[in-house]
Amino acid sequence: MPKGNSPKNTKSESSFGYHDWAVESVISVEDVNRQAQELSETVSLEKITGLVQGEPFLKIEGLCAGYGKMEILHDFNLQVGKGQSLCMIGPNGAGKSTVLHSIFGFTNIFSGNILTRIGDSETLITKMSSSQKLKEAGISYILQDNSVFPDMTVEENLIMGGYLKENTDAAEQSTERIFEKYDRLKARRNKPARVLSGGERRLLEISRALVMEPEILLVDEPSIGLEPRFIDMVFEILDDLQRNEGKTILMVEQNAKKGLEFADLGYVLVSGNLAMAGSGDELLENPDVGRLFLGG
Ligand SMILES: Nc1ncnc2c1ncn2[C@@H]1O[C@H](COP(=O)(O)OP(=O)(O)OP(=O)(O)O)[C@@H](O)[C@H]1O
Ligand SMILES: [Mg+2]
Repeated sequence: MPKGNSPKNTKSESSFGYHDWAVESVISVEDVNRQAQELSETVSLEKITGLVQGEPFLKIEGLCAGYGKMEILHDFNLQVGKGQSLCMIGPNGAGKSTVLHSIFGFTNIFSGNILTRIGDSETLITKMSSSQKLKEAGISYILQDNSVFPDMTVEENLIMGGYLKENTDAAEQSTERIFEKYDRLKARRNKPARVLSGGERRLLEISRALVMEPEILLVDEPSIGLEPRFIDMVFEILDDLQRNEGKTILMVEQNAKKGLEFADLGYVLVSGNLAMAGSGDELLENPDVGRLFLGG
């Protein structure tokens, strides 16, 4: 922000701009959008492919998708390798959640392909139903909105997460494995979900997606609404799932610093286009990303 625009008598007043933490200089949402638009370069397919470790495990090719007749994503490409994590950042309304919606089958897809590897073969999943994606393609989706059933117990919530398993026994076994992994949930298995703290609730949301034993986790804003200590807990859980269980994680995160520190790869979305792509570290060090999304 040009110095001349600062109010004269206000000394380094903290205000809120795009970020949800206090920053010294404020950039309005409009400015972020405009400036982000200016830094948009066309990200080449070579760049996208070069960031992937091994073969791409999840791949989006030339995707045009949106809601009703409105196109939100324009010729969007994405590639992530097995066991890698990718974090999408960008201004509000850029289309980040729409990418996850499209993978899971909640948008209208006008053109383009979504592919993943099932067994040994690359499989087109663009037109699969959401249930098939959960059951056959190993993709689970952790929604941006609070989605636990408050009056059901922790255990019932988890078993619900396995409703597409071949039978209730399989869902129950998978739920037991979750309890073995997360003591915090085990200790509260018979409590209604509404009594959980914010962090425990987020753990339940993540765990519910794990009941289907997915290969790919789509995670929308895991840190939203959480106190800092719970934010760290959530990233530790995701880190464990990636490093120790080999899950592939595609995430959207408003807390760009946390998201990029966590993820192997970072994408910046602006107005439904891929504006920048790099390793998480590369984007963290990029001055434009810093100025627009990291509050510095
Ligand atoms: N269900 C829907 N029906 C119609 N339009 C939608 C729907 N969901 C999102 N949109 C529109 O699509 C555009 C992209 O929204 P999206 O939710 O993908 O943005 P986002 O990058 O996730 O933003 P945020 O950071 O605010 O979550 C917005 O203009 C939004 O209004
Ligand atoms: Mg969103």
